[in-house]
Amino acid sequence: MAILKIARMGHPVLRRRADPVADPTAPGVRRLVADMLETLGDIGGIGLAAPQVHVPVRVVIFEVPASRAGGDAVPMTMLVNPEIEPLSETQANGWEACLSVPGLTGVVPRHTHIRYSGMSPLGERIEREASGYHARVVQHECDHLDGILFPMRMTDLSLLVFAEELRHGLPESSSGAAVPDDMVAD
Ligand code: NI
Repeated sequence: MAILKIARMGHPVLRRRADPVADPTAPGVRRLVADMLETLGDIGGIGLAAPQVHVPVRVVIFEVPASRAGGDAVPMTMLVNPEIEPLSETQANGWEACLSVPGLTGVVPRHTHIRYSGMSPLGERIEREASGYHARVVQHECDHLDGILFPMRMTDLSLLVFAEELRHGLPESSSGAAVPDDMVAD
């Protein structure tokens, strides 16, 4: 296993559409996932997509700790070739951050209810419905597979700020967005 270097906004690997994985159970996929788990564990984030470690394939990992879940904790999940289907048109604003956009945080609209599916590296099919923070994390991670970073989803760039500056207080126009305790950091 190895701790991998994180690609930052501007690197071409974060702009391209990641390739589908032909065999989710291939040894190379398991090695990649093991390295992603070690990297995420070292940094202490919520989730990670393979392009963020310079590997342009459709693999994401994430978890929703109980402390952030509002009762809906999700164990560490490894998804190969994930797909998302919104279950309603409703979107909600929330603060997000990203290991590939270090230091910044912003308010991003996301679908509040989704269904997502994919394969695990053990060959199990995973299919879940998700709402709230869980749904936000999955949408953020899967966006990485399509070359999309959270600032590209923002509708009000006055709410793109350095996280450290939030100690001075939240921007007035962020009212309604979840407080930064709910920040997605991946
Ligand atoms: Ni991210």
